[in-house]
Amino acid sequence: MKLIDIYSRVKKDLNAIEKELEKSVYSDHILLREASVHLLKAGGKRIRPVFVLLSGEFGTYTLEQMKKVAVPLELIHMASLVHDDVIDDADTRRGQLTVRSKWDNRIAMYTGDYIFGKALGVITELENPEIHRIMSRAIVQMSIGEMEQVRFFFHTEQTVRDYLLRIKRKTALLIAVSCQLGALAAGASKETAERLYSFGFNVGMAFQIRDDLLDLSGTEEQIGKPPGSDIKQGNLTLPVLYALREPQLRKPLLDEIERIRQADGQTDVSRFLDLVRGSAGLHEAEQLADRYIDKAIRHLDRLPDIQARRDLIGVAHFVGERSY
Ligand code: IPE
Ligand code: IPE
Ligand code: MG
Ligand code: MG
Repeated sequence: MKLIDIYSRVKKDLNAIEKELEKSVYSDHILLREASVHLLKAGGKRIRPVFVLLSGEFGTYTLEQMKKVAVPLELIHMASLVHDDVIDDADTRRGQLTVRSKWDNRIAMYTGDYIFGKALGVITELENPEIHRIMSRAIVQMSIGEMEQVRFFFHTEQTVRDYLLRIKRKTALLIAVSCQLGALAAGASKETAERLYSFGFNVGMAFQIRDDLLDLSGTEEQIGKPPGSDIKQGNLTLPVLYALREPQLRKPLLDEIERIRQADGQTDVSRFLDLVRGSAGLHEAEQLADRYIDKAIRHLDRLPDIQARRDLIGVAHFVGERSY
Protein backbone atom coordinates (compact mmCIF):
# COMPACT_ATOMS: atom_id res chain seq x y z
CA MET A 1 0.00 0.00 0.00
CA LYS A 2 1.34 3.40 -0.97
CA LEU A 3 1.36 6.40 1.32
CA ILE A 4 -1.02 8.24 -0.96
CA ASP A 5 -3.57 5.42 -0.63
CA ILE A 6 -3.29 5.53 3.14
CA TYR A 7 -3.72 9.29 3.18
CA SER A 8 -6.68 9.03 0.86
CA ARG A 9 -8.40 6.53 3.14
CA VAL A 10 -8.13 8.92 6.08
CA LYS A 11 -8.43 12.04 3.95
CA LYS A 12 -11.90 13.07 5.05
CA ASP A 13 -10.96 13.06 8.70
CA LEU A 14 -7.59 14.59 8.00
CA ASN A 15 -9.37 17.45 6.24
CA ALA A 16 -11.57 17.91 9.29
CA ILE A 17 -8.43 18.10 11.42
CA GLU A 18 -6.96 20.64 9.03
CA LYS A 19 -10.04 22.85 9.43
CA GLU A 20 -9.80 22.50 13.19
CA LEU A 21 -6.11 23.45 13.08
CA GLU A 22 -6.98 26.59 11.17
CA LYS A 23 -9.69 27.45 13.64
CA SER A 24 -7.48 26.70 16.58
CA VAL A 25 -4.73 29.16 15.66
CA TYR A 26 -7.21 31.93 15.05
CA SER A 27 -6.51 35.11 16.94
CA ASP A 28 -7.71 38.70 16.82
CA HIS A 29 -4.07 39.59 17.05
CA ILE A 30 -3.11 39.99 13.41
CA LEU A 31 0.59 39.23 13.77
CA LEU A 32 0.12 36.05 15.82
CA ARG A 33 -2.55 34.91 13.43
CA GLU A 34 -0.51 35.65 10.31
CA ALA A 35 2.64 34.04 11.61
CA SER A 36 0.81 30.86 12.66
CA VAL A 37 -1.24 30.62 9.49
CA HIS A 38 1.93 31.16 7.45
CA LEU A 39 3.44 27.97 8.85
CA LEU A 40 0.17 26.06 8.67
CA LYS A 41 -0.28 26.93 4.99
CA ALA A 42 3.32 26.16 4.12
CA GLY A 43 2.36 22.47 4.09
CA GLY A 44 3.79 19.63 6.13
CA LYS A 45 3.08 15.94 6.09
CA ARG A 46 0.67 15.92 9.06
CA ILE A 47 2.15 12.59 9.94
CA ARG A 48 1.39 12.87 13.64
CA PRO A 49 -2.36 13.31 13.00
CA VAL A 50 -2.19 10.33 10.63
CA PHE A 51 -0.70 8.23 13.45
CA VAL A 52 -3.46 9.42 15.79
CA LEU A 53 -6.21 8.50 13.34
CA LEU A 54 -4.83 5.08 12.47
CA SER A 55 -4.16 4.24 16.13
CA GLY A 56 -7.65 5.35 17.06
CA GLU A 57 -9.06 2.62 14.83
CA PHE A 58 -7.93 0.08 17.41
CA GLY A 59 -10.55 1.46 19.77
CA THR A 60 -13.97 3.00 19.36
CA TYR A 61 -13.13 5.63 16.84
CA THR A 62 -14.97 8.93 16.84
CA LEU A 63 -13.68 11.88 14.89
CA GLU A 64 -14.61 14.24 17.73
CA GLN A 65 -12.28 12.40 20.13
CA MET A 66 -9.54 12.03 17.52
CA LYS A 67 -9.54 15.74 16.79
CA LYS A 68 -8.94 16.51 20.44
CA VAL A 69 -5.61 14.72 20.43
CA ALA A 70 -4.56 15.12 16.79
CA VAL A 71 -4.94 18.90 16.79
CA PRO A 72 -2.87 19.60 19.92
CA LEU A 73 -0.20 17.11 18.85
CA GLU A 74 0.22 18.80 15.48
CA LEU A 75 0.17 22.20 17.22
CA ILE A 76 2.90 21.08 19.63
CA HIS A 77 4.91 19.89 16.65
CA MET A 78 4.35 23.21 14.83
CA ALA A 79 5.29 25.28 17.88
CA SER A 80 8.46 23.26 18.30
CA LEU A 81 9.34 23.93 14.65
CA VAL A 82 8.93 27.67 15.04
CA HIS A 83 11.27 27.60 18.03
CA ASP A 84 13.59 25.08 16.39
CA ASP A 85 14.13 27.43 13.45
CA VAL A 86 15.25 30.11 15.88
CA ILE A 87 17.69 27.72 17.53
CA ASP A 88 18.91 26.49 14.14
CA ASP A 89 19.01 29.94 12.46
CA ALA A 90 16.98 28.37 9.68
CA ASP A 91 15.66 30.56 6.88
CA THR A 92 13.45 28.07 5.09
CA ARG A 93 11.07 25.37 6.19
CA ARG A 94 8.59 23.43 4.09
CA GLY A 95 10.09 25.31 1.14
CA GLN A 96 8.90 28.66 2.57
CA LEU A 97 10.47 31.36 4.70
CA THR A 98 10.56 30.48 8.38
CA VAL A 99 8.66 32.68 10.82
CA ARG A 100 11.97 33.99 12.16
CA SER A 101 13.11 34.88 8.69
CA LYS A 102 9.85 36.40 7.43
CA TRP A 103 9.43 38.35 10.67
CA ASP A 104 12.14 38.01 13.33
CA ASN A 105 13.35 35.83 16.20
CA ARG A 106 11.31 37.64 18.80
CA ILE A 107 8.12 37.18 16.87
CA ALA A 108 9.01 33.52 16.33
CA MET A 109 9.47 32.95 20.06
CA TYR A 110 6.05 34.40 20.85
CA THR A 111 4.41 32.64 17.93
CA GLY A 112 5.76 29.34 19.23
CA ASP A 113 4.52 30.14 22.74
CA TYR A 114 1.17 31.16 21.32
CA ILE A 115 0.79 27.89 19.40
CA PHE A 116 1.78 25.91 22.52
CA GLY A 117 -0.90 27.82 24.41
CA LYS A 118 -3.48 26.98 21.78
CA ALA A 119 -2.49 23.31 22.01
CA LEU A 120 -3.09 23.43 25.75
CA GLY A 121 -6.51 24.95 25.18
CA VAL A 122 -7.59 22.08 22.93
CA ILE A 123 -6.14 19.27 25.00
CA THR A 124 -7.91 20.35 28.15
CA GLU A 125 -11.22 19.79 26.37
CA LEU A 126 -10.48 16.13 27.10
CA GLU A 127 -11.16 15.56 30.76
CA ASN A 128 -8.49 12.96 31.10
CA PRO A 129 -5.51 13.93 33.30
CA GLU A 130 -3.56 10.86 32.11
CA ILE A 131 -3.61 12.24 28.55
CA HIS A 132 -2.54 15.67 29.84
CA ARG A 133 0.37 14.11 31.71
CA ILE A 134 1.51 12.14 28.68
CA MET A 135 1.45 15.23 26.52
CA SER A 136 3.23 17.34 29.10
CA ARG A 137 5.99 14.77 29.39
CA ALA A 138 6.46 14.71 25.62
CA ILE A 139 6.95 18.49 25.54
CA VAL A 140 9.36 18.38 28.48
CA GLN A 141 11.42 15.64 26.85
CA MET A 142 11.45 17.48 23.54
CA SER A 143 12.88 20.54 25.25
CA ILE A 144 15.57 18.43 26.91
CA GLY A 145 16.41 16.84 23.56
CA GLU A 146 16.79 20.21 21.87
CA MET A 147 18.92 21.53 24.77
CA GLU A 148 21.12 18.47 24.66
CA GLN A 149 21.60 18.94 20.96
CA VAL A 150 22.93 22.45 21.60
CA ARG A 151 25.17 21.15 24.37
CA PHE A 152 26.67 18.60 22.01
CA PHE A 153 27.24 21.00 19.10
CA PHE A 154 30.64 20.27 17.52
CA HIS A 155 31.45 17.64 20.18
CA THR A 156 33.31 15.17 18.03
CA GLU A 157 33.86 12.81 20.97
CA GLN A 158 30.16 12.12 21.50
CA THR A 159 28.90 8.57 21.09
CA VAL A 160 26.16 7.06 18.97
CA ARG A 161 24.32 6.52 22.24
CA ASP A 162 24.38 10.26 22.96
CA TYR A 163 22.88 10.84 19.54
CA LEU A 164 20.19 8.19 19.97
CA LEU A 165 19.15 9.49 23.37
CA ARG A 166 18.84 12.97 21.93
CA ILE A 167 16.66 12.00 18.97
CA LYS A 168 14.53 9.85 21.22
CA ARG A 169 13.70 12.95 23.19
CA LYS A 170 13.46 15.51 20.46
CA THR A 171 11.47 13.46 17.94
CA ALA A 172 10.61 9.85 18.72
CA LEU A 173 8.62 10.42 21.90
CA LEU A 174 6.13 12.78 20.26
CA ILE A 175 5.47 10.24 17.52
CA ALA A 176 5.17 7.46 20.12
CA VAL A 177 2.69 9.58 22.05
CA SER A 178 0.69 10.33 18.88
CA CYS A 179 0.06 6.60 18.49
CA GLN A 180 -0.55 6.02 22.18
CA LEU A 181 -2.98 8.91 22.58
CA GLY A 182 -4.89 8.04 19.42
CA ALA A 183 -5.55 4.65 20.98
CA LEU A 184 -6.30 5.95 24.49
CA ALA A 185 -8.65 8.67 23.24
CA ALA A 186 -10.58 5.96 21.39
CA GLY A 187 -10.85 3.95 24.59
CA ALA A 188 -8.52 1.16 23.45
CA SER A 189 -6.95 -0.99 26.17
CA LYS A 190 -3.78 0.12 27.93
CA GLU A 191 -1.99 -2.83 26.41
CA THR A 192 -2.98 -1.87 22.87
CA ALA A 193 -1.95 1.73 23.56
CA GLU A 194 1.42 0.54 24.84
CA ARG A 195 2.05 -1.55 21.75
CA LEU A 196 1.21 1.40 19.56
CA TYR A 197 3.49 3.59 21.67
CA SER A 198 6.39 1.20 21.08
CA PHE A 199 5.58 1.11 17.39
CA GLY A 200 5.58 4.92 17.24
CA PHE A 201 8.75 5.20 19.25
CA ASN A 202 10.70 3.00 16.84
CA VAL A 203 9.19 4.69 13.79
CA GLY A 204 10.11 8.03 15.35
CA MET A 205 13.74 7.00 15.77
CA ALA A 206 13.88 5.98 12.10
CA PHE A 207 12.09 9.21 11.19
CA GLN A 208 14.78 11.43 12.70
CA ILE A 209 17.63 9.29 11.34
CA ARG A 210 16.06 9.68 7.88
CA ASP A 211 15.69 13.41 8.44
CA ASP A 212 19.36 13.63 9.32
CA LEU A 213 20.31 11.55 6.29
CA LEU A 214 18.30 13.87 4.06
CA ASP A 215 20.16 16.88 5.42
CA LEU A 216 23.38 15.26 4.21
CA SER A 217 22.29 13.72 0.94
CA GLY A 218 19.02 15.35 -0.11
CA THR A 219 18.52 18.25 -2.48
CA GLU A 220 17.10 21.60 -1.44
CA GLU A 221 14.03 20.85 -3.53
CA GLN A 222 13.43 17.58 -1.69
CA ILE A 223 13.92 18.83 1.83
CA GLY A 224 12.65 22.41 1.64
CA LYS A 225 15.90 23.80 3.08
CA PRO A 226 19.54 23.80 1.97
CA PRO A 227 21.43 20.56 2.68
CA GLY A 228 24.26 20.76 5.19
CA SER A 229 22.18 22.84 7.60
CA ASP A 230 22.95 20.48 10.48
CA ILE A 231 26.72 20.78 10.34
CA LYS A 232 26.58 24.56 9.90
CA GLN A 233 24.84 24.52 13.23
CA GLY A 234 27.32 22.09 14.74
CA ASN A 235 24.82 19.26 14.90
CA LEU A 236 26.75 16.02 14.41
CA THR A 237 24.29 13.42 13.19
CA LEU A 238 24.48 9.65 12.98
CA PRO A 239 26.15 9.26 9.54
CA VAL A 240 28.83 11.73 10.63
CA LEU A 241 29.49 9.86 13.88
CA TYR A 242 29.83 6.66 11.86
CA ALA A 243 32.12 8.32 9.31
CA LEU A 244 34.36 9.57 12.13
CA ARG A 245 35.05 5.93 12.98
CA GLU A 246 36.73 5.35 9.62
CA PRO A 247 40.50 5.66 10.19
CA GLN A 248 41.34 7.26 6.82
CA LEU A 249 38.44 9.72 7.08
CA ARG A 250 38.69 10.70 10.69
CA LYS A 251 41.48 13.27 10.39
CA PRO A 252 40.19 15.13 7.28
CA LEU A 253 36.67 15.09 8.73
CA LEU A 254 37.83 16.43 12.10
CA ASP A 255 39.75 19.19 10.31
CA GLU A 256 36.71 20.09 8.26
CA ILE A 257 34.44 20.15 11.31
CA GLU A 258 36.91 22.37 13.14
CA ARG A 259 37.11 24.72 10.16
CA ILE A 260 33.31 24.98 10.05
CA ARG A 261 33.19 25.57 13.80
CA GLN A 262 35.73 28.39 13.56
CA ALA A 263 33.78 29.98 10.75
CA ASP A 264 30.66 29.75 12.93
CA GLY A 265 28.95 27.82 10.17
CA GLN A 266 29.25 30.77 7.78
CA THR A 267 31.21 28.84 5.21
CA ASP A 268 30.89 26.45 2.33
CA VAL A 269 30.33 22.92 3.62
CA SER A 270 30.56 21.01 0.35
CA ARG A 271 33.86 19.35 1.25
CA PHE A 272 32.37 18.13 4.52
CA LEU A 273 29.35 16.78 2.65
CA ASP A 274 31.60 15.05 0.09
CA LEU A 275 33.62 13.40 2.85
CA VAL A 276 30.53 12.07 4.61
CA ARG A 277 28.91 11.01 1.34
CA GLY A 278 32.08 9.13 0.48
CA SER A 279 31.99 7.22 3.76
CA ALA A 280 30.02 4.17 4.75
CA GLY A 281 28.19 6.33 7.29
CA LEU A 282 25.14 7.01 5.14
CA HIS A 283 24.59 3.35 4.47
CA GLU A 284 25.17 2.37 8.09
CA ALA A 285 22.67 4.96 9.25
CA GLU A 286 20.15 3.70 6.68
CA GLN A 287 20.63 0.22 8.07
CA LEU A 288 19.96 1.38 11.60
CA ALA A 289 16.82 3.20 10.41
CA ASP A 290 15.70 -0.04 8.74
CA ARG A 291 16.25 -1.93 11.96
CA TYR A 292 14.06 0.54 13.84
CA ILE A 293 11.34 0.12 11.20
CA ASP A 294 11.47 -3.67 11.49
CA LYS A 295 11.31 -3.41 15.23
CA ALA A 296 8.37 -0.99 15.00
CA ILE A 297 6.41 -3.37 12.80
CA ARG A 298 7.06 -6.28 15.15
CA HIS A 299 5.30 -4.35 17.91
CA LEU A 300 2.13 -4.55 15.80
CA ASP A 301 2.31 -8.34 15.60
CA ARG A 302 -0.20 -9.03 18.29
CA LEU A 303 -2.68 -6.34 17.36
CA PRO A 304 -5.84 -7.30 15.44
CA ASP A 305 -5.37 -7.57 11.72
CA ILE A 306 -7.49 -4.60 10.69
CA GLN A 307 -6.89 -2.16 7.82
CA ALA A 308 -5.35 0.38 10.22
CA ARG A 309 -2.66 -2.13 11.13
CA ARG A 310 -1.76 -2.63 7.48
CA ASP A 311 -1.77 1.13 7.00
CA LEU A 312 0.55 1.68 9.96
CA ILE A 313 2.94 -0.81 8.39
CA GLY A 314 2.66 1.17 5.15
CA VAL A 315 3.44 4.46 6.90
CA ALA A 316 6.37 2.82 8.68
CA HIS A 317 7.78 1.69 5.34
CA PHE A 318 7.32 5.19 3.96
CA VAL A 319 9.23 6.62 6.92
CA GLY A 320 12.00 4.08 6.40
CA GLU A 321 12.43 5.14 2.80
CA ARG A 322 11.29 8.72 2.80
CA SER A 323 12.94 11.24 0.57
CA TYR A 324 11.00 14.35 1.70
C1 IPE B 1 10.34 17.84 11.04
O1 IPE B 1 9.20 17.05 11.18
C2 IPE B 1 11.08 17.84 12.30
C3 IPE B 1 11.51 16.52 12.75
C4 IPE B 1 11.07 16.02 13.86
C5 IPE B 1 12.43 15.76 11.95
P1 IPE B 1 8.31 16.67 9.94
O2 IPE B 1 9.16 16.11 8.86
O3 IPE B 1 7.16 15.87 10.40
O4 IPE B 1 7.81 18.10 9.46
P2 IPE B 1 6.55 18.52 8.60
O5 IPE B 1 5.44 18.73 9.59
O6 IPE B 1 6.23 17.44 7.62
O7 IPE B 1 6.97 19.79 7.95
C1 IPE C 1 13.22 19.34 14.50
O1 IPE C 1 14.53 19.01 14.61
C2 IPE C 1 12.65 19.92 15.74
C3 IPE C 1 12.27 19.01 16.78
C4 IPE C 1 12.31 17.72 16.69
C5 IPE C 1 11.80 19.60 18.03
P1 IPE C 1 15.55 19.31 13.42
O2 IPE C 1 16.14 20.64 13.59
O3 IPE C 1 16.47 18.16 13.35
O4 IPE C 1 14.61 19.24 12.16
P2 IPE C 1 14.45 20.16 10.90
O5 IPE C 1 15.41 19.60 9.95
O6 IPE C 1 14.73 21.55 11.32
O7 IPE C 1 13.03 19.95 10.46
MG1 MG D 1 15.95 22.47 12.54
MG1 MG E 1 16.95 21.49 15.26
